[in-house]
Amino acid sequence: MKAIVQTKYGSPADLRLREVAEPTVGENEVLVRVRAASIHPDVWHVVAGWPYIVRLMGSGLFKPKNPIPGTDMAGVVESVGDKVTRFQPGDEVFGETIAAQGWANGGTFAEYVSAPQDRLALKPGNITFEQAASVPASGFIALLNLPEASQLEGREVLINGAGGGVGPLALQIVKSYGARVTAVDTTNKLDMLLSLGADRVIDYTREDFTRGDRRYDLIFDIPGNHPFSVCKRVLNPEGRYVPIGYEHYGKSGRRIFGLVPHFIYLMLLARFDKQLGTGKSSRPTRAETIEVLRDLLATEKLTPIIDSVFPLSEIHEAFRHQIEDELHGKVILTTAR
Ligand SMILES: NC(=O)c1ccc[n+]([C@@H]2O[C@H](COP(=O)([O-])OP(=O)(O)OC[C@H]3O[C@@H](n4cnc5c(N)ncnc54)[C@H](OP(=O)(O)O)[C@@H]3O)[C@@H](O)[C@H]2O)c1
Repeated sequence: MKAIVQTKYGSPADLRLREVAEPTVGENEVLVRVRAASIHPDVWHVVAGWPYIVRLMGSGLFKPKNPIPGTDMAGVVESVGDKVTRFQPGDEVFGETIAAQGWANGGTFAEYVSAPQDRLALKPGNITFEQAASVPASGFIALLNLPEASQLEGREVLINGAGGGVGPLALQIVKSYGARVTAVDTTNKLDMLLSLGADRVIDYTREDFTRGDRRYDLIFDIPGNHPFSVCKRVLNPEGRYVPIGYEHYGKSGRRIFGLVPHFIYLMLLARFDKQLGTGKSSRPTRAETIEVLRDLLATEKLTPIIDSVFPLSEIHEAFRHQIEDELHGKVILTTAR
């Protein structure tokens, strides 16, 4: 089969399209003929081996353990392992492939990939393979980091960096919970955010939301360009601040540990400050979230936005676009022949 192959950490320009052996299928795994896969910042982290700490967190010390990048995809089931009960050949599915909860290549930038059955769901018929492939990783980050629906009904939510990969999904999920949403991003993305249901938009190039009069019950902060102490000024007394983190493809400059020390600091601070974090008592698993995402897609509460679609053979241009250009939705790779 054809696959994108990464033999070392470095630039996406080092990736190559090669002929490789098809993956084998474990007893609880499903072999999927990939129709579409998505690029997201965490795929770049493993391709670049940046920051260095990713190499200790599952991806491989000196070179990637799995040479084929990509973590999420949509496609058609080709065959199933002996213990697979949920899927059969011919099913249209979408989901993730990585077994670890960390940074690792998952093999989806290929014509075939094997995935654990509990990371997959049936693709709703109302969306395309490209749309389905854009959702799993970003949707997981959104669902993991949002409070429960009951905590947000009728509340004021601000999403900072709402126009990227995670933001549009978080915005629509929060709207489906019955919250009012203020979406913050750059000028050209504001119309898209209004079309996705934002009640109010703020152009961060002209206005600083931390200096406004409005108060919020949740700040879902993707870029983290204002410290928590500053965001607190615009939180209601019971309001919560949830940081997501954003390295902007190495532009943050934190070469060795990335945002890990910052997040350890915030986790310690959260023990003393109840406004920090989601306040949820349990974390949803990836297996649970893929089914929640499926329901949101099938009921049209969630509409995935696609910026552009590239064939696998144009992997270099796809990554260049992802990293350098202003995106309006997700960048998708397709294996359509
Ligand atoms: N997307 C995924 O599937 C995924 C999966 C796992 C983890 N994550 C993590 O989640 C983080 C966010 O991912 P993402 O895909 O949403 O990133 P992203 O697509 O780069 O989105 C960040 C958004 O924030 C905007 N922004 C930049 N500076 C801002 C500022 N000062 N004020 C307000 N908005 C600002 C960006 O606009 P510009 O584009 O104009 O800069 C962009 O729209 C990543 O760091 C990643 O590690 C993401």
